[in-house]
Amino acid sequence: MRYLLSLLAVLVWSMAYSQYYPNLAKSTNLVIKRGYSKEALQCIECHSKKTPGIVQQWKESRMAHAGVSCYDCHVVPKDSPMASQCEGVKGTNIYTSPMVSPKTCAKCHPTEAEEFSKSSHARLASRPVVELAKMKKLMEYFEGGQFAGVPKGDPRTTATRRTGCQMCHGTKVKLGPDKKPVDGWPGGIGTRYPDGGIGNCVSCHYRHKFSIEQARKPDTCGRCHIGPDHPDIEIYLESAHGQLYLAHGEKWKWDSAPDAWEPGDYEAPTCATCHMSGIGDLKTTHNVGERLYWDLMHKNGDTIRGVNTPKDQPERGYGPRGRKLMKKVCANCHSSTHTEAFFKKLDDAVKLYDYYYDKAEAMLQDLKKRGLLKKDPWSDAFQELYYYLWHHVGRRARQGAAMDGPDYAHWHGFFQLFQVFKDMQAIYEYRIKHNKIEELSPVMSSAPY
Ligand code: HEC
Ligand code: HEC
Ligand code: HEC
Ligand code: HEC
Ligand code: HEC
Ligand code: HEC
Ligand code: HEC
Ligand code: HEC
Repeated sequence: MRYLLSLLAVLVWSMAYSQYYPNLAKSTNLVIKRGYSKEALQCIECHSKKTPGIVQQWKESRMAHAGVSCYDCHVVPKDSPMASQCEGVKGTNIYTSPMVSPKTCAKCHPTEAEEFSKSSHARLASRPVVELAKMKKLMEYFEGGQFAGVPKGDPRTTATRRTGCQMCHGTKVKLGPDKKPVDGWPGGIGTRYPDGGIGNCVSCHYRHKFSIEQARKPDTCGRCHIGPDHPDIEIYLESAHGQLYLAHGEKWKWDSAPDAWEPGDYEAPTCATCHMSGIGDLKTTHNVGERLYWDLMHKNGDTIRGVNTPKDQPERGYGPRGRKLMKKVCANCHSSTHTEAFFKKLDDAVKLYDYYYDKAEAMLQDLKKRGLLKKDPWSDAFQELYYYLWHHVGRRARQGAAMDGPDYAHWHGFFQLFQVFKDMQAIYEYRIKHNKIEELSPVMSSAPY
């Protein structure tokens, strides 16, 4: 009887507990080892003189309070492919590295690292930069000026990759003879490290404070999710949610414990709330693909994740399950009538885009079959417009619809979409009628798309 009673007490306690700290115990796995060694203290002492800013930021981090120091993250085994020695440890048997890959974080945060490793952030983001020949041609031949005479192999040809693509997407880090990085570091969210670690945790938790507060704020995501081809931060800031963030965000509570950040701490969701954070009975995920249905970034409009995404990219796919999870986010603050109407609008907008896209694709294929396309797509008005149709205006229309940004859904989106489409139609009809490519292509790259 006493046994039963205490069992009941535990049950009641754990139910109450899970109400206040939902999923905390279930969802994460944290490994802690405390205390600074003599070696660890040395790093801190010398670096507080040599790089005081770093030590100051680290001191303000929760990890410093929990006893995690420079030594835990920067000391690597002698046989690590990225083992070097900083000035202060030269000649000792301690090896350090300025690079810290998710493999190091995974030692203490296995749950976050495992989820993150399944995301397209980690697995796919650096693929265009590292692996895709077409992108290499764009980066180095066109943007890098080879077509205009900059010699192949000249460092200027990789300048756009190094200042642009790589800083958002990440690339493969190359090492010099002293095993310190010479190219690709520091890099974006999909950085490929010499120790085999993939992805960059500090893309959202900047060093050396590593705060969850920062990661919960939309501006952090907006560093990459910005601009004419994926204006997610712009869309967010013009949405009702973003307006509430701008109006009252300063007063919201940003530093609640992991998985215990709930409505009340904030009035409206941020990027993190919808795509990552625990809310209600949804648990936090470090896989930003988990709550998605459509693929809104590629050409095809009717691509449902996990249904018709490439089979070799499992990280793209959640589809119907993703939709269910996303609706659970909304259910915390909206009625199902509101939420269902919202997703109906989104789905119709995606299907409208897809209608235009399918027609544009058919025209492209027809011109190709008839030999009426130029070999260089960037000096062919039709092909340039095709690019803007899906990559800029079509994506803006869809993402504007997905995240309540009416100006992007409309003026920067569908309004321009039908115009681009009409221009494509006009060029198509000309080429078919005269069976030749028009002589002077208008310079479409300067078109305001
Ligand atoms: C929780 C892990 C962690 C701790 C603790 C930590 N660092 Fe770092 N540090 C990082 C990460 C991650 C980076 C960025 C590495 C990357 O992009 O590959 C970094 C970068 C650096 C860099 C290069 C940055 C630059 O801008 O040149 C230095 C130097 C450095 N850390 C020193 C320190 C010192 C000194 C301490 C202790 C006071 C410390 N770190 C504590 C993870 C850590
Ligand atoms: C006696 C002083 C001293 C000690 C002790 C020391 N460092 Fe350094 N460390 C430096 C200096 C100086 C630099 C170079 C800063 C620069 O390049 O401007 C440096 C650079 C670094 C870098 C950047 C990458 C590089 O190799 O230049 C990292 C990471 C680093 N130290 C980590 C550590 C760690 C971890 C420890 C403890 C095991 C440690 N340091 C101990 C003085 C020290
Ligand atoms: C040696 C173990 C260890 C390593 C390695 C480690 N962490 Fe931590 N981390 C901790 C501990 C302990 C805490 C504190 C947990 C707490 O206070 O609830 C923590 C907390 C955090 C937090 C929450 C901070 C907050 O504001 O609440 C973040 C984010 C984080 N770590 C990121 C990282 C990243 C990124 C790396 C790799 C660059 C890393 N950690 C490496 C042990 C570690
Ligand atoms: C350092 C740059 C960077 C930051 C910061 C960043 N992202 Fe991304 N994000 C990317 C890139 C690059 C991709 C495209 C990955 C690919 O190749 O599919 C992406 C893709 C995504 C996707 C689509 C995922 C999929 O499976 O197709 C979502 C959703 C997303 N990010 C949300 C976020 C959120 C939310 C934040 C902030 C908490 C954030 N991102 C921060 C660069 C970033
Ligand atoms: C400002 C940050 C940023 C820069 C610079 C950038 N991208 Fe992206 N890129 C992103 C984000 C964010 C996404 C995800 C877009 C979405 O979900 O709509 C993305 C998506 C992509 C995709 C589609 C995802 C995939 O894996 O198929 C490709 C390809 C791509 N970018 C290539 C490039 C190349 C090549 C460059 C340089 C010539 C570049 N990007 C420059 C942020 C950036
Ligand atoms: C795309 C942005 C992004 C990246 C990249 C990212 N995080 Fe996070 N992280 C977040 C957000 C947002 C939260 C806060 C979730 C919430 O609201 O509780 C978080 C929370 C955490 C926490 C607190 C505990 C928890 O799970 O909520 C830890 C620890 C952590 N991250 C570690 C990591 C590690 C380790 C990596 C790399 C393997 C990483 N993060 C990469 C956005 C990111
Ligand atoms: C109110 C919730 C909400 C907020 C806030 C939000 N998103 Fe989204 N996001 C969505 C929904 C819903 C979709 C479309 C999901 C689908 O396909 O059904 C989406 C789609 C995306 C995509 C497109 C992925 C693809 O398929 O290419 C990216 C990238 C993205 N969001 C990033 C962000 C960023 C960055 C922020 C903040 C600046 C943000 N989101 C804010 C709900 C939100
Ligand atoms: C933390 C609470 C919260 C969450 C979660 C949330 N919203 Fe909202 N949402 C609000 C508030 C508050 C408003 C402002 C209502 C007003 O205009 O008076 C709002 C406004 C909106 C609007 C503008 C139209 C209107 O009602 O005024 C849309 C559309 C919207 N939300 C969609 C969504 C979708 C879709 C989701 C889930 C993906 C979601 N919201 C999640 C709080 C939330």
